[in-house]
Amino acid sequence: MKEYRIVLLKGDGIGPEIVTEAVKVLNKTADLFDFSVIYDEADLGGIAIDKHGVPLPEETVAKCKAADSVLLGAVGGPKWDTLPGNLRPEAGLLGIRGALSLFANLRPAMIFEPLRAASPLKDEIIKGSFDIMVVRELTGGIYFGERGREEIDGIKAAYDTEMYTVPEIERIARVGFELAQKRNKKLTSVDKANVLESSRLWRETVIEISKEYPDVQLSHMYVDNCAMQLVRNPSQFDVIVTSNLFGDILSDEASMISGSIGMLASASLNDKQSGLYEPIHGSAPDIAGQGIANPLATILSVAMMLRYSLDQPKAALAIENAVNEALNVAGTPDIYTDGMRKVNCCEMGDLVCEKLVKI
Ligand code: IPM
Ligand code: MG
Repeated sequence: MKEYRIVLLKGDGIGPEIVTEAVKVLNKTADLFDFSVIYDEADLGGIAIDKHGVPLPEETVAKCKAADSVLLGAVGGPKWDTLPGNLRPEAGLLGIRGALSLFANLRPAMIFEPLRAASPLKDEIIKGSFDIMVVRELTGGIYFGERGREEIDGIKAAYDTEMYTVPEIERIARVGFELAQKRNKKLTSVDKANVLESSRLWRETVIEISKEYPDVQLSHMYVDNCAMQLVRNPSQFDVIVTSNLFGDILSDEASMISGSIGMLASASLNDKQSGLYEPIHGSAPDIAGQGIANPLATILSVAMMLRYSLDQPKAALAIENAVNEALNVAGTPDIYTDGMRKVNCCEMGDLVCEKLVKI
């Protein structure tokens, strides 16, 4: 029987609640598909600051490096908001992305049929359906560039820098092209090449790499236009590849048009098979501890883990099917609509387990 070692980084806010439900579903999936999972836990974010004085302890990095895969809840909260930038929970998140070289962040956004009414877009704009994969560069650009503060003639100033190297652009472009090849063979590269030099290099490099993928139809879009097109005609997109900052912004937008940010999963991959999986939403401190958070984005992150890191595509599909089945009958408060049973976080985890069937 295959055995996988998974590190859980439950994090802050609703993190522990949603990870608990995802583990429940993973355990049930393991039973059905004949594999076993050994869990370890480590601290990241606010909890790590409280327990160890830093958002990313060495031990957490070591445990994650040794694991087959990592499942993360969420980090951050008002309690740590006044700390200096390098000691905030978010610095732990950026740190673990960097330490594990997780350069490719995959954020799928699609319409879940039972949640169609939850999308803020009109039916005629959704045009049946959409299924977008945002590929966000995750270990470069302005998130990791030089930043600082200075005083110029007594006036306070601050700066952050966006820099990309050709190899960084090449490797993320390849991830985009390869995903497009497995999907509808359309790749949109998003940049701001009409203004930024780093975007001009991005575009040139993506065009070079496109020669290796003649079967993929490549187009380029400025980020402001892309933000508009996502709410004007989302079904025009298949795979979007973009920089760290643009991907951060566009993936929130893409998630919202699918109904709820509480539904969407993500995978962060390096050039090894292991990876880090997390919901794209935050730690929601306003509802933490109430047991009403939506665990589905984390459960769907487990499905992505099974597909991209653990080589269990059938188990991944089984979870995705079970989530859709669950949504036909019930919803947590964020996605609940008339005709659904209103359930809490734990009941939603139980329901997905109940709907899981072997395929
Ligand atoms: C995300 C989040 C993070 C990011 C924050 C919490 C640092 O918004 O994963 O999208 O900006 O990358
Ligand atoms: Mg974000």
